[in-house]
This record gives sequence, structure tokens and C-alpha cells, in this order.
Amino acid sequence: MTAVDGGARAASAPPEAHEPAVSFRQVTVSRGDRVIWADADLAVLPGQFVAIAGPNGAGKSTLLSAVLGQVRHRGVVEVLGGSPRSAADQIGYLPQRRNFAGGVRIRGVDIVRLGLDGHRWGVPLPLPRRLRSGTADPDRRVADIVAEVGAQDYAHRPIGHCSGGEQQRLLIAQALVRSPRLLLLDEPLDSLDMPSQAAISALLRDICKRHDITVMIVVHDINPVLANLDQIICVSSGKVFSGSPDELLTSERLTAIYGVPISVVDDGRGGKFVVGHEMTPHHQRAL
Ligand SMILES: Nc1ncnc2c1ncn2[C@@H]1O[C@H](COP(=O)(O)OP(=O)(O)O)[C@@H](O)[C@H]1O
Ligand SMILES: [Mg+2]
Repeated sequence: MTAVDGGARAASAPPEAHEPAVSFRQVTVSRGDRVIWADADLAVLPGQFVAIAGPNGAGKSTLLSAVLGQVRHRGVVEVLGGSPRSAADQIGYLPQRRNFAGGVRIRGVDIVRLGLDGHRWGVPLPLPRRLRSGTADPDRRVADIVAEVGAQDYAHRPIGHCSGGEQQRLLIAQALVRSPRLLLLDEPLDSLDMPSQAAISALLRDICKRHDITVMIVVHDINPVLANLDQIICVSSGKVFSGSPDELLTSERLTAIYGVPISVVDDGRGGKFVVGHEMTPHHQRAL
């Protein structure tokens, strides 16, 4: 299987237990005539919780686009045992930068319901086969997932009246409502206060472990998710690096990857904390 849409296996074929949920082999992505990153090799295993970090503009969102089959690439991308496009029905995706201004009257539950069938916007989405049978009552499904993300107290309010953290929980519910096997989240913690970042990170970890969902989460600050990670992917200077937290989270390794001084320090509670130093403006948000 190669390039944009070369599904060699049927979409419905379940991946073998030992097969990665996402694998890149020598993948290079270009936008126009510019290479964003090259020769990426990755293997994200089923059920892993994986952070994608790197400077602004390095190509983190582009990496998610490659998993979604939305950018042209060289090399081999496999998602859930097939091509990215064949897996689309099993992927939940929360794009970067969404917040709703105070005047937005749409209720939280309607935002979640949009993820299920799009019916209120006049573009009905077909339900995935596994949700069509059995207990596939859409209202029930929306209520269940709203409860699972802990949003039941405000889900019937206009979303513009919800706080940033509340909006984010509802958007996560939207991404989860079709029971995806792979969840892609692009900076879902951005612009949240520290307690909300920690709470949402723990919530995601919890839901995904309970339902065996593989998660790839783009972060600009890796610290709120550090305690929960199985793997880290760093996108920097046209390359993609990956490894376990133990492999990648050393001052030497991160400084080499980013090309600016970065320290990994003991947080005093058995964990680690990543600190960038003397960053140039281009690298201000290096991690
Ligand atoms: N649709 C696009 N067309 C052309 N260039 C793009 C497009 N999207 C992103 N880029 C460029 O690709 C590079 C990587 O972007 P992106 O993946 O959004 O970075 P990140 O998410 O790490 O901040 C940037 O230089 C950006 O300007
Ligand atoms: Mg981005």
C-alpha cells in the first residue's frame, strides 16, 4: 500500500493484536514544493496514549493530517490495519483551535450530536455499522457520552456560555460519540488553565484505557500529559522522533532534538518536568 489512498486490506478487517494502530514507514510529507518532514518511521500500538510535541509550524497538525489521509505523502501510512481513508469511520478527530464565542446559542448536546449524525446541520452522516444495531438510540448515545466526559451539568446550555474547559469536554464528547478506535486531538489543552489541563488529560487517559482507544494528542506543553504517556513523538527541524518517555525525556536528548537548551527535571513527586531555556522567539513554545 502506498501514497494517498492505497487500501490493500478491507476496511472492516480488524488489525491483528500485535499490529500497530498507526504505522509510518519512511513517510515524507510536502506542502506545495516544501518538505514539512521527511523519512518518518512510527509505530503506535493499540491502546497507547501518545503525545505529539514540537515547535510551532514544525508539522504536528500535518502529522495528524497524514493519519487522516488528508495530505499527499511518500512512503507507507497504515491506520487500523488499512489505508488512512479506509479507517476514517473509526477515527475521532478534534481539530486545532475551536472555541465558541459567548453569543453562540447552540447547545452542548447539539454539538455532541453533530459528531454522531450531523442531522441538525442538514448533512446526515451514516452511522457506523457497529452503532446501527443493538442499542443505537442516538439520544441515549449522546447522553451516555456526555455523562462519560462529566459534562451533564452544562450540556443543555448554549455552548457559548460554557467555560473553556467545559467546551473542551463537550468537543471531546463529540469526537468520541461514534465510538472511535483511534482518537486524534490537536492541542485540546491549549488555552485552558492548569487544573483544567490536568483534569482533561486524566479524563482522556481514563476513557481511552477503559474503552481501549488509541490516542494521539498534539500538545504545546507536554507537562500536563507527562504522567499519562506511553510514547512521545517529537516533530522538529523536518524530522520526526519517537520513543518511550524514558528514552526521550532526558535533557541531552531533547536539547539535541530541538536545538535549544531544554532541561528535564525531577518534579519532586517521582515524575518529571520539562523546562525550556533561553528560547529564541521561533522556539518560544518548543514543548
Ligand atoms: N494547507 C496548507 N497549505 C500549505 N502549507 C501548510 C498548510 N497547512 C500547514 N502548512 C504549513 O506546514 C507547516 C506545518 O504546519 P502545521 O502542521 O500546522 O504545524 P504545527 O501544527 O506543528 O504548528 C507550516 O509551515 C505551515 O505553514
Ligand atoms: Mg498545529
